[in-house]
Amino acid sequence: MKLFINIKTLWQVRPASTNIVFGKKMDELPFIHNAYLSVKDGKIESFGEMNHLSKERFEHYETIDAQGKMMLPTWVDSHTHLVFADWRNTEFEDRIKGLSYQEIAARGGGILNSAQKLSTATEDQLFDDAMLRLNRLIALGTGAIEIKSGYGLSTAAELKMLRVIKRIKKASQIPVKSTFLGAHAFPRQFIGQENEYVDLIVDEMLPAIKAEGLADYIDAFCEIGYFNLEQTKRILEAGANIGLKPKVHVNQFNAFGAVEMCVNQNAISVDHLEELSDADIASLSTSSTIAVALPGCSFFLGIPYTPVHRLMDADIAVAIASDFNPGSAPDGNMNFLLSLACIKMKMTPAQAINAMTLNAAAAV
Ligand code: NIG
Ligand code: FE
Repeated sequence: MKLFINIKTLWQVRPASTNIVFGKKMDELPFIHNAYLSVKDGKIESFGEMNHLSKERFEHYETIDAQGKMMLPTWVDSHTHLVFADWRNTEFEDRIKGLSYQEIAARGGGILNSAQKLSTATEDQLFDDAMLRLNRLIALGTGAIEIKSGYGLSTAAELKMLRVIKRIKKASQIPVKSTFLGAHAFPRQFIGQENEYVDLIVDEMLPAIKAEGLADYIDAFCEIGYFNLEQTKRILEAGANIGLKPKVHVNQFNAFGAVEMCVNQNAISVDHLEELSDADIASLSTSSTIAVALPGCSFFLGIPYTPVHRLMDADIAVAIASDFNPGSAPDGNMNFLLSLACIKMKMTPAQAINAMTLNAAAAV
């Protein structure tokens, strides 16, 4: 039991019933100056103004003087690819030399490169490396995280990744959610017979995932050159049949109706959204699907930033996540993403903090 006293400012103070803030409401970040906060059984128990603090009530609590310090919820990172075998540092140089993400992928780089590297890694190796990364992120203020598979691209390798995530869930000091992203890219041997890979996901991977209870969410990279609308819809429906809610990679490079399709599939979130049509905004604005911006990916790839003001103006709930991965977003430091959100996407600190705490939590 702990009691924090003399907190200079306690941020994000809301009724317990508030679990998401839509659009224009993201301008507000409620606070208490000169506050206290008590913790019991690992949970926030009470908080308020220092001058309402009853000292007797907290007699047996360890007291921490937070004089001059601010307190706010930890970051929630709702979209990461934290489990991977190695960095794709040569692609970093290829981009400096002028190649695009698509050109690198066409040469066998990108996701397929990560799948190649992961194919020979052991579960122990993947687990140890991911735990090291996770503990660094926790030290930087991340307090809950989602981790995707998607560098396996075969039943055995996807299950290997998901089992590693399951081990991380058990070992981690913070909550971890697991997302199945078998539909991240088509393995080379399925080029020309893409629907057979979709069959494999639906008929083999998903039943195995269900049997071992390996995932909380289902994802797909719905994009030109990756999974089309029909293939993505089929995968999301098959996931829903085993209780996995969709969180989907859409509109990174092209807007072609994926947002509306995902909204109709009751997606908890649609992620990326660097490209957005008016129809996308219209379908999101009448749904509770959360729009997740990934400014680290825009920064490292040099692609447009998600137009978050168009989303917020339409009263859509926006969240921000790192997309931490070994190629297109090689940094999971949420403090850096807060700076990018403010400087590059012109969010106010209040909007960005809502996007990285409350709305991010709602997205997982
Ligand atoms: O969110 N866009 C697709 N998937 C990931 C990239 C993963 C990778 O490049 O390894 C993303 O950006
Ligand atoms: Fe991603």
